[in-house]
Amino acid sequence: MTESLVEDITRLKRQKNAVILGHYYLRDEMQDIADFVGDSLALSKQAMQTKANIIVFCGVHFMAETAKILNPDKRVLLPDIEAGCSLADSCKAADLQKLKDQHPNAMVVSYINCTAEVKTLSDIICTSGNALQIVNQLPKNQEILFVPDKNLGDYINKKTGRQMILWDGVCHVHNQLIAERIIQLKQQHPEAALIAHPECTAPVLALADFVGSTAAMLKFVQTDTNQSYIVATESGILYQMRKLCPNKLFYIAESTEQCGCNDCPYMKLNTLEKLYQTLLNETPEIILSEETIRKAQKPLLRML
Ligand code: 13P
Ligand code: SF4
Repeated sequence: MTESLVEDITRLKRQKNAVILGHYYLRDEMQDIADFVGDSLALSKQAMQTKANIIVFCGVHFMAETAKILNPDKRVLLPDIEAGCSLADSCKAADLQKLKDQHPNAMVVSYINCTAEVKTLSDIICTSGNALQIVNQLPKNQEILFVPDKNLGDYINKKTGRQMILWDGVCHVHNQLIAERIIQLKQQHPEAALIAHPECTAPVLALADFVGSTAAMLKFVQTDTNQSYIVATESGILYQMRKLCPNKLFYIAESTEQCGCNDCPYMKLNTLEKLYQTLLNETPEIILSEETIRKAQKPLLRML
């Protein structure tokens, strides 16, 4: 069944000149079928470079929106339109506008995990892969509103010595990882290094040997000399880690012993069956107004 589905997807993809982009948090089989797998930064760049007529974005809504903003003339499809993001949902454009009104001189630095409307209100976008670099390039005395991830914002504040005003948003997957459980895991695997995504809370990040985006973590485990790792992020990334480093050991830092609690339920909505239907029917499609695209493009292009 899976084999024939994979064949059908491959055939439709060729017929329609489509490209499949996928995030590291996808199910294993979805990572395998994607033409390109990456973190948010690499996926945005890839979306800009593609010569395909159709981009099928296997990821979540804000990622597919980003691909559309960068490729207004292409059709961008998302296999499940319900694939949202708790972090993006925490920041409504109208509420951000109110905060901007209270801080008329502030620059808005938005983490890419936000809606297209929030991007239209932003001065520059960043990802977990370039956030430190981008904030470091802004004038030292510049007032900054950082939205929507308060954990990433707090991490940047600590690293740069800034006092950015932080939006009160979190990713529910990373925010539920608790330091006590990680300490337990470290006791169980004392030889393992702890690597963490900056969407984790400050107590977890304080314990980490390395903090970075999904792509940065993957690079780290390939070049570092440790032989085992406790991984504090979404569980999908283990698939690539084990592929790239078959001789190393990886333990997911689940907050409970209940398997699957680190799965992003939105990322996991992407399935082979839905991908097939999406390519066949060319729906669900991401539709944005010209004005939204024009305004949201500016801060994205500034980042890129
Ligand atoms: P990356 O930018 O590291 O891929 O992270 C995206 C994301 O959604 C993390 O939860
Ligand atoms: Fe959003 Fe968190 Fe899922 Fe990433 S892991 S897409 S931030 S809910």
